[in-house]
Amino acid sequence: MLVLALETSCDETSAGVVRDGKKILANVVTSQIDVHARYGGVVPELASRKHMEGIAVVIQEALRQAEVTVDDLEGVCVTRGPGLIGALLVGLSTAKAMAFALGIPWVGLHHMEGHILAVLLEKEVSFPFLALAVSGAHTHIYRVEGIGRYQTLGRTLDDAAGEAYDKVAKLLGLSYPGGAVIDRLAAEGDAAGLVFPRPLLHQDNLDFSFSGIKTAVLNYVRRLGAAPSDAEIRRICAAFQEASVEVLTVKTLRAVERTGLQRVVVAGGVACNRGLRERFRFLAQEHGFEVHFPSADLCGDNAAMLAVAGDFYLHRGGADGLEVNALAQWSLDSATFHRV
Ligand code: KG4
Ligand code: ZN
Repeated sequence: MLVLALETSCDETSAGVVRDGKKILANVVTSQIDVHARYGGVVPELASRKHMEGIAVVIQEALRQAEVTVDDLEGVCVTRGPGLIGALLVGLSTAKAMAFALGIPWVGLHHMEGHILAVLLEKEVSFPFLALAVSGAHTHIYRVEGIGRYQTLGRTLDDAAGEAYDKVAKLLGLSYPGGAVIDRLAAEGDAAGLVFPRPLLHQDNLDFSFSGIKTAVLNYVRRLGAAPSDAEIRRICAAFQEASVEVLTVKTLRAVERTGLQRVVVAGGVACNRGLRERFRFLAQEHGFEVHFPSADLCGDNAAMLAVAGDFYLHRGGADGLEVNALAQWSLDSATFHRV
């Protein structure tokens, strides 16, 4: 099946063309970072407008790169939620309009389902597995039994990991989005005895809390009394990264031990993090579990990642009707069970 995938949930406008839920023929991603950077975060109204301007352009470019025409398309899948409602509506309305005009089925999907299954575009990972989904809005551990069968085992009680990275970057005066910048500076720096708290680490659950780490960084910077030097910023980044990576990996390891599942998929924008990847690889060897990451292009927001589940549901006749609407908030546990 030849599927067009669309993603507009936040600040990337993306269109992908994927064959049989496996082969990426095109995956065009345009970022709005330049528009939002000066505000230090995503401005929802600007995001919607930029999606409106860009959606037709990315679709045309994806079709061109894939060397197909709209008439070759057999289905459309799109992020239905969660995300910024105005931004989601651009992708959703486009998907519905194209499906209606072309007389083909469409399906609206959960954004994190896309992230979690992205790795399957690159390699086989057998079900069941554990997924650590870490992005700007999610920090969840899921048990994944198969496509459409997800159970939340743990989640952040406050900020998401990516959100904490972005907020810490902002308070250090670094550019937006901050995750990749902190990751780079952390690699250049040395925590040298600076230790930030690891919230919930020793509590016997699989939940996370990131706002405490962020506040600890804020308090530390305030106590310095003056703007931190470049060397000090690198040290803070290293210490913040150590704390974040430790809570993410220790909780995931606990999920491995509790469930007996020997496969872990790390997904979402934060899965790009070099410190996180390194630590996971070390722990996987030491504790004898498999760890899988999508390549960097498929970690961040992109449309092709949606086509794995999109193709699966469309194949089984699980298409949506035109009355289906976008959802700003949506739990993955309830997102797909009605289809499988
Ligand atoms: O999945 P994603 O592209 O969008 C959402 O669904 O939120 O994730 C974006 C998040 C941002 O918070 C960004 O700062 C973070 O992923 N991120 C990183 C890295 N690259 C992106 N965080 C830590 N280390 C990175 N290398
Ligand atoms: Zn995302």
